[in-house]
Amino acid sequence: KKIALLAGGFTGEYVISLQTADTIAANIDREKYEVYKVVISREGWFHEDGAGTRWPVDKNDFSIRLETSKVVFDVALIAIHGSPGEDGRLQGYLELLDIPYTTCDVTTSAITMNKSYTKNILAGTEGLHLAGSVQLFREWAAGMLESCRHLQLPLFVKPNNGGSSIGMSKVGSWEELEPALERAFREDGQVLVEEYIKGREYSVGAFRVGGELEVLPSTEIIPGRDFFDFEAKYSPGASEEITPGRLPENARLTLEQLVKEVYQRLNCRGAVRMDFIQEEETGHWYFIEVNTVPGQSENSILPRQIRASGRSMGEFYSLLIEEASR
Ligand code: DAL
Ligand code: MG
Repeated sequence: KKIALLAGGFTGEYVISLQTADTIAANIDREKYEVYKVVISREGWFHEDGAGTRWPVDKNDFSIRLETSKVVFDVALIAIHGSPGEDGRLQGYLELLDIPYTTCDVTTSAITMNKSYTKNILAGTEGLHLAGSVQLFREWAAGMLESCRHLQLPLFVKPNNGGSSIGMSKVGSWEELEPALERAFREDGQVLVEEYIKGREYSVGAFRVGGELEVLPSTEIIPGRDFFDFEAKYSPGASEEITPGRLPENARLTLEQLVKEVYQRLNCRGAVRMDFIQEEETGHWYFIEVNTVPGQSENSILPRQIRASGRSMGEFYSLLIEEASR
């Protein structure tokens, strides 16, 4: 099979995407698959070959124009975090071209890219708690600060469609709110202001193959910094990550059940990773967000969980590709 490995993207997660693609390229089964890396960037779409030569992509049929031939694809393996790989745009394009792809569909990708809309859909899920929050729009600036006043400090201020904690701040006093909003609005036209939940953080990967939903071992995240920000996420050793997370058996089963419930409710497909906080005082599980193109750099959580589950990375990518083309 000919595989397009899509990397790059239009956001600050561009560099992370290239790392994700490197991991995939290094682990994918080369006996089964012929892999072509396709970079989508603000400068254009191109295929970069092993020698670093760039070949143009024809967007009409998503083919690569090589010197004397053209390459068309059987499956697209999406490794782009944020837009356009995680928000439904690429998914829509590939669907119109009838090219199977490895992620959630258009609707689910578009909704889950938006942290606030995702929470709205999950509201009412039994056993799943959601931190108090307000969704703000740049176009509707009047009364913004006031509309947050009912929330309990401290707060997290996040670009609503962001990833990797870019543009995110923790706010401990009301004076800090306005600069934090400005910072987040620089990244996104929508901002989520959310109450901070004191507790332990867990991240859990899951994927479905042949109708069976597999929940991976969880990872407990102990940020060495104030929160799990960009530095903490990508500097080796900046935070402690324990896989599988330390959880009593009944809590582990509860978390696993919640992951299944969320995966189904959002109609996910392929491999996703969900972030939760178990509140210290109550033991309640708070859903933070779902990542439908989880980071897969060497230092990332998902690859560790896959290895901890006993599968090889090569086997995992084969499963994803076969599931996509089913
Ligand atoms: N958005 C990053 C890549 C993640 O969730 O892993
Ligand atoms: Mg994320």
